[in-house]
Amino acid sequence: MKDGYGRNISYLRLSVTDLCNLRCRYCMPEEGVCKLAHDRLLTEDEMVTAVRAAAGLGITKVRITGGEPLVKPNILSICRRVAAVEGIAETDLTTNATRLPAMAQALREAGIRRVNISLDTLNAEKYAFITRRGVLAEAMEGIRAALAAGFDKVKINAVLIGGFNEDEVPALAELTRRWPVDMRFIELMPMPGDTLFGEQAYIPADRVLDMLPEAAPAAEHDGVARLYRLPGAMGNIGLISPLSSHFCGECNRLRLTADGHLKPCLHSREEICIKGLDEAGMTQAMREAIRMKPRQHDPLSRGEPSRAARQMNQIGG
Ligand code: 5AD
Ligand code: SF4
Repeated sequence: MKDGYGRNISYLRLSVTDLCNLRCRYCMPEEGVCKLAHDRLLTEDEMVTAVRAAAGLGITKVRITGGEPLVKPNILSICRRVAAVEGIAETDLTTNATRLPAMAQALREAGIRRVNISLDTLNAEKYAFITRRGVLAEAMEGIRAALAAGFDKVKINAVLIGGFNEDEVPALAELTRRWPVDMRFIELMPMPGDTLFGEQAYIPADRVLDMLPEAAPAAEHDGVARLYRLPGAMGNIGLISPLSSHFCGECNRLRLTADGHLKPCLHSREEICIKGLDEAGMTQAMREAIRMKPRQHDPLSRGEPSRAARQMNQIGG
């Protein structure tokens, strides 16, 4: 279905939980991760019904996100059922990889095609700091498990944080020569109430190119990412610049939170609740959400924080 600005909405990001086994500083507060009330969460059946409704409106691709989707006990069943919905050509997953060693193979068999993995640093102490509790070796083991499971594509995402991991851009980019992965650098998005990082934390993604003199523009295109490649690499380098509104013009996505709220835009306050509706009701609500999609997320481009009334773990990144 087309939105009010002629964009074809073909992609649903489905957050299956707001819980996570990590606490990345840019994503979640340390304490007071107040567990969403169980009866307000979408049930597995409701998620599948929502995906069916979305497919009926022309959505062909679903990305399962969180929080951390792999902490959801019934995640394999959700993946299997979503991937089997008629009209859904591709089901992908975003994860921090720490549970992939045990689950990668089963996820592949459940029908997951592509996996995006969050990894901001290759230094164990820095990893423990930014995730507040993570163990780098577990994430690295998870990346290896993803590669061994034979997904169509494995991408690694690093949020660029000035004064934290800027100096690691070359080492992270090297991963594309070591493994068949894409390495993507994402500009830090200021979230409401965010006081953790100072002004110098927000680095434009273009700065990555200054640090990678060998990188040349790549032939392929990839939605919101601008792609480059190092000589001899097996995967691309991607730059994702949410702050500059570069890609709002091509935005093709709708978001559904774990507690059943459709979000027309990641950064807007508007939400439509579909909890408890039947498929026809969900279809109606999705039509409305697609119609409500804003042309672009103005506040971020003006240097103001997101107006999203939630933390990132409650939206799904
Ligand atoms: N800015 C940019 N990206 C973020 N993510 C979460 N919070 C932020 C933020 N404030 C993204 C990261 C992470 C994924 C789960 O969500 O890319 O890998
Ligand atoms: Fe968890 Fe991902 Fe958020 Fe980190 S960024 S706290 S891994 S959901």
